[in-house]
Amino acid sequence: MPKRATAEKDVDKLTAAEAEAELARLAALIAQHDKLYHEQDAPMISDAAYDALRRRNEAVEARFPELQRADSPSLKVGAAPAAGFGKVQHSIPMLSLGNAFAPEDVAEFLARIARFLGLSAEEAVEVMAEPKIDGLSCALRYEGGKLVQGATRGDGTTGEEITANVRTIADLPQTLKGKGWPEVLEVRGEVYMSRRDFAALNERQEAAGAKVFANPRNAAAGSLRQLDPKITASRPLHFFGYAWGEISAPLGATMAEARGRLADWGFTLNEPAALCSGLDDLLAYYQRIMSERAELPFEIDGVVYKVNRLDLQQRLGFVSRAPRWAIAHKFPAEQAETRLNAITIQVGRTGALTPVANLEPISVGGVVVARATLHNEDEIARKDIREGDHVIIQRAGDVIPQVVEVVKAKRPKKSKPFVFPTTCPCPLATPVVRPEGEAVARCSGGLECPYQQVRRLMHFVSRDAFDIEGLGVENIQEFWDAGLIKAPADIFRLRGHRAAILERERWAEQSVANLLQAIEDRRRIGLDRFIYALGIRQVGQSTGKLLARSYGELAAWQAAMIQAATERAAAPEAKKPAEVGEAYAELCDIEGIGMNMADDIGAFFRDPQHKAMVDDLAAELEVEAVAAATTDSPVAGKTVVFTGTLVTMTRSEAKAKAESLGAKVAGSVSKKTDYVVVGADAGSKAKKAEQLGVAMLSEEEWQALIG
Ligand code: IVH
Repeated sequence: MPKRATAEKDVDKLTAAEAEAELARLAALIAQHDKLYHEQDAPMISDAAYDALRRRNEAVEARFPELQRADSPSLKVGAAPAAGFGKVQHSIPMLSLGNAFAPEDVAEFLARIARFLGLSAEEAVEVMAEPKIDGLSCALRYEGGKLVQGATRGDGTTGEEITANVRTIADLPQTLKGKGWPEVLEVRGEVYMSRRDFAALNERQEAAGAKVFANPRNAAAGSLRQLDPKITASRPLHFFGYAWGEISAPLGATMAEARGRLADWGFTLNEPAALCSGLDDLLAYYQRIMSERAELPFEIDGVVYKVNRLDLQQRLGFVSRAPRWAIAHKFPAEQAETRLNAITIQVGRTGALTPVANLEPISVGGVVVARATLHNEDEIARKDIREGDHVIIQRAGDVIPQVVEVVKAKRPKKSKPFVFPTTCPCPLATPVVRPEGEAVARCSGGLECPYQQVRRLMHFVSRDAFDIEGLGVENIQEFWDAGLIKAPADIFRLRGHRAAILERERWAEQSVANLLQAIEDRRRIGLDRFIYALGIRQVGQSTGKLLARSYGELAAWQAAMIQAATERAAAPEAKKPAEVGEAYAELCDIEGIGMNMADDIGAFFRDPQHKAMVDDLAAELEVEAVAAATTDSPVAGKTVVFTGTLVTMTRSEAKAKAESLGAKVAGSVSKKTDYVVVGADAGSKAKKAEQLGVAMLSEEEWQALIG
């Protein structure tokens, strides 16, 4: 067992290969202890033993800096205690923003708004533009003008209660100034640290032999999420207000007005802000802020555009996790030059082979980067990227670092073009297939490939899927290596292996009990999460929801998918859903699901192994039916088709509204349609509705129905 051997060896006796294995072992181990300590409040080793692990990690890295891992414990800053904090449910989810990088993206943002609202190109909506601060978002709740609660964003739905910590932030009002504030006012904004304070803090940390922070963002996060508010108080944090959550009375008719009131009540706002109109105006603002960026006392990573009128914001609403009425326009990425030491291949859960550049670690915009994605075979060929090359890499926001180009002048004489593997790097070395016209090469091992198995399991337990507390990436790998988990259903059979887990290093009665309980807690799961967790190609979270809402129950969904898959197998050449069959057409009829995705779902269900995997898993679980709608609106669960030109709303607005009321919006009329809403100049769909005897509503009747 190499694991034990490297663990016992002196650092200066390690070979490079052993060092690499040792760093992997330490990273996993330290991550696990961090989790036990911070999240589960159940440390299993002494502080001294923990420090020894970290020191050993640092010593190995000092000897082999090129082997530092992207997930190295020494790169993690501001150890963030999650345990010990109470939880706060956000009554209105804290969402994030979509990103624009190029002017075209901003143009498309404006065009989408105009389309959605049914405006002509000349009727530009007013947009409030603000700098985008790089800190962490936070919600402050005031009742009767008094600060009563502070919370982090967390996963958007549940955050950590950090009231005592936010009270230490000097430039946020403990009691609201002025008058006219709503009884309940939840102000949202960004907690950040100024550049100057960040530099001074790092100097102090360094002098004290404590951890230095990689950037102001990390410093702010690490300072705010301290269990001891005294530490937070000693850190110079600031707060900018830019949005709100729950409010018992409106803040005005526009962003501009709301900003004015927030300022009156004592909040500092993101400045310089500007009310803009039209694309040129927005782009001029962007250029101006970019040129002022270096002089600003705080770090910004772009600007944010928000529709000024709040009634329009309301109409525009949200798409999955971001508002339609706002977007972040990011500044260009920061770049650096370094050496590409090696290209390795990563296998994803769908078998996709992704080449990864292993870099000489380098700091880019304050963050140490040691790996970058190379996307695929063609990308490597197109940029002619070779092992040993000097490359320009860039990092933008939270995205994975990328290789921009090769510095050809520095290319070593003997370098050779990279040869993409023809077999999977896994022990089975299954052949790699790359279908005509596709960029992605995949391992053909399917369910058999051990690398894919592990990746699929990691996806299965991830936050938006089963989200099993205490069963993270490291434990999956550990249990998989130990032969305890091969397929998702095995997770729910782990309780039969209590003794075997207990025998393992680092597991004790309490931690095993916690893990098994967390697994039991997930035996009941919503159909939407269940579907997403299966990891079907192209089926993300929102598609999981769509499918769950459309089919309601697991059995119904499974039967329909198998039927659709069978129909497709019999008509592989058909170009239209209706030519394939009824179940297939019904699947494609769900707005947001096209033939391409339907075919991937079909391919999944045509594979008997997949079918068996789903059955095996379902037998362990209680999959909760998803009510067709969560509201008690009269259209909840109904299938609606809109046709013809609508007057009071655009088609997308009508669709979004209907869906928010729990209706399913379909593109074509069938026996299953409940209502057809007929606008002006309706054509064949109205006729079909008549033939089938489906209820037809005028636009006014529809409005009256939904109230
Ligand atoms: S508005 C519904 N305005 O950037 C979302 N966000 O990348 C409302 N941020 O989650 C957010 N400056 O943490 C808004 N002026 C600004 C901002 C800002 C920074 C952060 C915020 C948000 C993230 C999205």
